[in-house]
Amino acid sequence: MIDQDKKSSLKTFEKRVFSGVQPTGGLTLGNYLGAVKRFVEMQSKEYKTIYCVVDQHAITAWQNPTELKQNTRQIAAFFIAAGIDPNSSILFNQSAVAEHAQLAWVFNCVARMGWMQRMTQFKDKAGKNAQNAALGLFAYPALMAADILLYHATHVPVGDDQKQHLELTRDIAIKFNHDYDIDFFPVTEPVIGGTASRVMSLRDGTKKMSKSDPSDLSRINMSDDADTIFLKFKKARTDAEALPSEIDGLKDRPEAENLVTIYSALSEQSMDKTLQEVGGKQFSEFKPILAECAVEILSPISREMTRLMQNADEIDSILASGAKRAREIASPILEKTYDIVGMLKPK
Ligand code: TYM
Repeated sequence: MIDQDKKSSLKTFEKRVFSGVQPTGGLTLGNYLGAVKRFVEMQSKEYKTIYCVVDQHAITAWQNPTELKQNTRQIAAFFIAAGIDPNSSILFNQSAVAEHAQLAWVFNCVARMGWMQRMTQFKDKAGKNAQNAALGLFAYPALMAADILLYHATHVPVGDDQKQHLELTRDIAIKFNHDYDIDFFPVTEPVIGGTASRVMSLRDGTKKMSKSDPSDLSRINMSDDADTIFLKFKKARTDAEALPSEIDGLKDRPEAENLVTIYSALSEQSMDKTLQEVGGKQFSEFKPILAECAVEILSPISREMTRLMQNADEIDSILASGAKRAREIASPILEKTYDIVGMLKPK
């Protein structure tokens, strides 16, 4: 049992932000609006921001090794092109900091089978053939909890689809603190809100926009050129009504709501303000306005990503120095965790 003095001396909490993106190829407007745009907004004096390319999560489904390396660089390029400053934020890839996997093992022993079995993303990804899914896919949320708690992160900006994983992270922190009778891991705040926490498919407003949707028309990819963006919005499914002037008028109109949400998030204004601007217009008039706004914001990001990707050495060196800085925070926290659970440290 650890005494009270030791309890308080172990606390290192401050306002710390952690989030991650998987390098599984393909980035959508959902990743940008639901996550990375908000990562950029959280870079301020108030928070220490740590952003990670989660390559160990990526291999829970088989990845082509050469492509995985390129995709890892591509996510780093996306972060930087979208406005993450690698000098003020810590930017690195997960496998470069071994402490993630080490803490994940401890959490595998804290989390319960029943908790994991309830994870809807596991059920979705494993599909009907769950017996044949990788063990790593089942344990995925424990590694995610390790990512976050290894830095004693207090705030985690993510899209709505990660909510259940963040609840599990809180459960793991609470159970660990309880099992070892110590106030060590913080109970993390999900930062989900914002206008675009769930960007929906352009073909079906009830489904999430996703890189794995078989229809490319369902999503805007960060790599799409201006003509493709115009075409995809033009072909986006809508209903026959004009746009309403008030939010109530979007009820039961998921496709209309999605396009208004995307426009509001891109132009950084409230849904009310957007509806004041476009209420009464037909979709044929609104769609080109939306497409133009998207091109104006996404084109410079995708141009800068392309430029950065031509310079792999520059990206690799940013990731290497980020990993070093990440390890400086992670290593003492893992060491304390090992001490708490009773691992004998070789002298
Ligand atoms: P991933 O790689 O699937 O997605 C990265 C981020 O993009 C958000 N996102 C969306 N947001 C709004 N609308 C959409 N249509 C949309 N599609 C994707 C996701 O919510 C996510 O925030 N498990 C995580 C990666 C991860 C992580 C972490 C995140 C691993 N460890 C620790 C936070 C903290 C994932 O698969 O994200």
